[in-house]
Amino acid sequence: MRFDPALRDEWHPAARSEQVAEKPVSVTVLGESVVLFRSSEGVRALRDLCIHRGVPLSLGTVREGELVCAYHGWRYDGEGRCVCIPALPAGQTIPPKARTETYACTELYGLIWVCLFDPRTLLPPIAGRIDDTYLSIRMGPYPVKAAAPRVIENFLDISHLMFVHEGLLGDPAHAEINDYAVHAAGECLRTDEIIVYQPDPDGRGIGVHNRYIYEIFSPLCVKLFKQPAETEERFHLFLVVLPETETTCSAFMLQYRNYAADVPDEVFIDFQSRLLEQDKRIVEAQRPELLPLDLQAELHLRCDRLSMAYRRMLRERGVTIGTA
Ligand code: FES
Ligand SMILES: [Fe+2]
Repeated sequence: MRFDPALRDEWHPAARSEQVAEKPVSVTVLGESVVLFRSSEGVRALRDLCIHRGVPLSLGTVREGELVCAYHGWRYDGEGRCVCIPALPAGQTIPPKARTETYACTELYGLIWVCLFDPRTLLPPIAGRIDDTYLSIRMGPYPVKAAAPRVIENFLDISHLMFVHEGLLGDPAHAEINDYAVHAAGECLRTDEIIVYQPDPDGRGIGVHNRYIYEIFSPLCVKLFKQPAETEERFHLFLVVLPETETTCSAFMLQYRNYAADVPDEVFIDFQSRLLEQDKRIVEAQRPELLPLDLQAELHLRCDRLSMAYRRMLRERGVTIGTA
């Protein structure tokens, strides 16, 4: 495991629930290869390595809630114990060493979450604020060849909307950003309202002046939401990023809305995928690859306050992966 005192105890999004069905799924969490599978007790995360001859367990199959290695058929249960070695003559006991490491794993908000070490932190506070009258969509994983904090910071960057997402999330003729502050609000950091003119903010092609509030919950979980006073429309978009290696990650998004029930999910998903491609082109090219936490290292404007608050928070928490 890549040592990161802040992130090793955090819950990381590893897959969408429906990705982990009959077959085991391989993911990388902070440099560790992890296999996800459905045991009889629910979804489990094990070290993706058979103790016998070092074959990834994710190459195997799931039989009756056990993970069967592809090489010699050893079977592992949800606790990582080897419970069957087909080559052993009847009556011989399975050596207690025959096991693989397990990680904390849980399923919530339609995602599977993994914590490599000590899950002292709570899962991102997503459901607490959003009741079940909302429609929800889960998106991702979107692989990005960039450090996870770069991807989060891009989401928090307001003044790129008019250029990277011209015609959709912004218009270069309306590029000015109103002054705003970032406050500590309970468990998170929250901005004042930021007003952005958006020609097509959610894929339905309806232009509007949106008032956004951004929140930072943890190093790799952030959100924006809008609650326009003039309508009952509510929109929340969470971004949670899985740090795979120092310079690669996968992004997941959770969208909650209480309007446009008749619009198929694909409209929103295709739109978000298109935005993500636009962001990827920029974020994957940014240098240095590791996000500089020294605020003297780059030039910041007032409109970049949110990014500055984010970098400060990473520094205070001691996040090392993807940062410099
Ligand atoms: S390598 Fe897995 S059973 Fe032999
Ligand atoms: Fe963007």
